[in-house]
Amino acid sequence: MKDKIVVITGANSGIGKAAAIKFAAEGHRVVMACRNLAISKPVQEEIMASAGSQSIDLLELDISSFGSIRKFCEAFKAKYDKLDILIHNAAFLSHGEKEYRLSPERVELSFATNAFGPLYMTELLAGWLEKSEDARVLNACTTNIKNFFDPKRTIEYDNLRGEYQTTRRYSSYKMYGDSKMAFLMLTFKMAEQWREKGIHVNAIQINRVKLSKETIAKMSSYWKALAWAQNLTNPHPSAMADNYYYICTSDQYRNVTGQLINHMREIVQPAPSEQGLDQLKNIFGSAYYPRYAIDRTNVDKVWGMGQELISAHSS
Ligand SMILES: NC(=O)c1ccc[n+]([C@@H]2O[C@H](COP(=O)([O-])OP(=O)(O)OC[C@H]3O[C@@H](n4cnc5c(N)ncnc54)[C@H](OP(=O)(O)O)[C@@H]3O)[C@@H](O)[C@H]2O)c1
Repeated sequence: MKDKIVVITGANSGIGKAAAIKFAAEGHRVVMACRNLAISKPVQEEIMASAGSQSIDLLELDISSFGSIRKFCEAFKAKYDKLDILIHNAAFLSHGEKEYRLSPERVELSFATNAFGPLYMTELLAGWLEKSEDARVLNACTTNIKNFFDPKRTIEYDNLRGEYQTTRRYSSYKMYGDSKMAFLMLTFKMAEQWREKGIHVNAIQINRVKLSKETIAKMSSYWKALAWAQNLTNPHPSAMADNYYYICTSDQYRNVTGQLINHMREIVQPAPSEQGLDQLKNIFGSAYYPRYAIDRTNVDKVWGMGQELISAHSS
């Protein structure tokens, strides 16, 4: 079925851009949700030319800011009468960054961008998704969450509002992994929340994909060298974009919700065992995710934090 309306966050770069080309080339209407319109405008034109389609809109969105999310959703609702596919692709990971940063709502920036912003945006658009006959939400997750196979690993729940920003060592890489684990738990909870409304919510576990030169340009020299070296063998973003497309449009995934799906389009399961040799299979394979993600206390904690934030900042 063509002519779906598809919102892709961070569609000006990498996998998001490749996905915009794919959806548009297949005849769907794409809305690029991007924070920098000056950078994204020429990309919109490039996508139109590559896809051979004019059905590509560009609307401003800074997903780390609740105010910007509200503005985006108002603009979207004024222009479109439904939403079929929402892809939360944008993410914050500043390789090697040592400085703890807060969002406008004073939430640690990785959590604001990668977990709570997407939750708020989905809540605001849920009514529009309900109008679709086949509403699908896809959340970009990462293999970085495998770090939670370590039994000592936990989300820094006590340091998400800047509590220890000056006294505790900050690792942007760890905070990124924590925020993506939180996003996976939110995926499970969102799926439960909206199952009855016909909105299906899944996450995709992205393993490794070539980074764009713009993304690499933002890194420090050590990380730049590493990224260029990894780019030699990493697959092109278009393969992952094809996965986004398949999960969001195929009959196979039409009634699937609350799942993590890997780069081979298989459903990833909670690890049956995290002991001994099984742990090696967990870490090196793509079949299992850490049980941390389905621990009710963790899921409820992250969901509760998200709901608290939304009620404190929703106007
Ligand atoms: N590439 C990989 O190997 C890999 C591995 C695992 C997971 N992933 C996940 O895959 C997704 C896409 O990654 P990618 O490699 O394609 O990265 P990318 O090329 O760096 O794209 C990230 C996009 O997110 C946007 N973005 C960042 N902060 C934003 C904000 N506050 N508001 C709106 N947009 C924002 C960026 O916009 P600007 O251009 O304005 O910065 C950019 O368009 C991410 O969720 C990432 O975590 C990627």
